[in-house]
Amino acid sequence: MAKAKIAYVCEDCGADHSKWQGQCSACARWNTLKQITVSKHAPVVEGVVTGFSGAATTVQNLADIRLEDSTRVQTGLSELDRVLGGGLVPGSVVLIGGEPGAGKSTLLLQVVTELAKKIPCLYVSGEESHQQIAERARRLGLPDGNVQVAFLTFAEHVAELVTKERPGVVIIDSIQVMQMSGVESAPGSVTQVRESAAFLTRLAKQTGTAIVLVGHITKEGNLAGPKILEHIIDCFLMLDSPAGSRFRTLRGIKNRFGAVNELGVFAMTDRGLREVKNPSAIFLERPQEMTPGSVVTVTWEGTRPILVEIQALVDQVQGGYPKRVAVGLDGQRLEMHLAVMHRHCGVSLADQDVFANVAGGARVAETAADLALLVSIFSSFQNKALPKDLVVFGELGLTGEIRPVPNGQERLREAQKHGFTQALVPQANRPRAPIAGIEVQTMASLSDVLDAVSTMIQ
Ligand code: TYD
Ligand code: MG
Repeated sequence: MAKAKIAYVCEDCGADHSKWQGQCSACARWNTLKQITVSKHAPVVEGVVTGFSGAATTVQNLADIRLEDSTRVQTGLSELDRVLGGGLVPGSVVLIGGEPGAGKSTLLLQVVTELAKKIPCLYVSGEESHQQIAERARRLGLPDGNVQVAFLTFAEHVAELVTKERPGVVIIDSIQVMQMSGVESAPGSVTQVRESAAFLTRLAKQTGTAIVLVGHITKEGNLAGPKILEHIIDCFLMLDSPAGSRFRTLRGIKNRFGAVNELGVFAMTDRGLREVKNPSAIFLERPQEMTPGSVVTVTWEGTRPILVEIQALVDQVQGGYPKRVAVGLDGQRLEMHLAVMHRHCGVSLADQDVFANVAGGARVAETAADLALLVSIFSSFQNKALPKDLVVFGELGLTGEIRPVPNGQERLREAQKHGFTQALVPQANRPRAPIAGIEVQTMASLSDVLDAVSTMIQ
């Protein structure tokens, strides 16, 4: 075997360093460098893997390259298909990350048993025994007729099986337990995970088999695995499980074959994961009686609108500095809004604690939620509830102007569909034609908004 070389790789961003240092020079995080051993030549399995994409050394004109029909395979779960960009692409490598217990194994077992009706599938587990997998499949009542199951931890053995059986889809549960016999490093180490993933990626490209890798990730997201693999794989999907909630969201972080930021929603039941076709309904479970500090906004997730409830609590400071806490929202934007509200409308919350939250454990990264956040804070500050059928969206600028958001029409239609009859939206999002069933008020500045809200809560 070729002589091994020592190198250091950042667990967080995957950057290589020749010497150990306290801080990663690529992502500036501290104490993330881990020692790895790099063999001079990539480990080779006879006749299987020779290099990325078949080591093509010729140059071709872009226009002359023939496009092959990459027929996507539908997984049978439409929420997953949408996040993937329309199904699984043959020869692609998909990484599904999530905390232990999020439901990754459950999701993939459901997917693989469904897929096996159409194409041969292989489920490789290095964590659960054949018995445990079979037990789960029976309990969930899955059609398990055509799935091949193997308990393996060596990537080379997976390659041998794949070249022999030629499955269309291979699930690897999980990449953290995979290792390569040619690599001198402990199983589970950064070296093993990285080498195994690179090896399996070459395998996928050369055999045209789609490979789905499971990657465990901690709350901080820096366990050896997902982060260092992001550049190798084609798609990275995160399965999130909000604390205490039975709902699971599947979000695209990277996708070479489709849009990212698509959101799939599932519910964990006693019969496995069920798709939630109408996510607005779950984030909108509200009490009959409206309370101050609650308002609904429409966020845009990938290709569809979702209604979520924004809540705020404003309370007299109990000694010390005023607190500003945002859960599921951007904390810096919260501070910014308070400054704009003071400077442009003379509403000061300097002696108040402000807490903001998205109900149901959802996360809203969009600036379109600005207006709803402000309105909920104002409502809590005034201690007056807003109308139950009100929906609010729009972005707030530093000069107190209300800026337009994309897909205004579709957002309004979604709100109307769910029974909302009045909306506060940016001026530039005025619908071209009135939308039946919803009365739309347009806003140009923050003072317009506070005026409109003040009349509503009287
Ligand atoms: P699992 O798929 O094993 O998680 P992961 O592979 O991401 O670690 O899911 C484990 C959790 O899901 C466990 O806490 C129990 C729960 N669960 C259900 O609630 N219902 C079910 O039908 C199944 C299979 C699991
Ligand atoms: Mg698992």
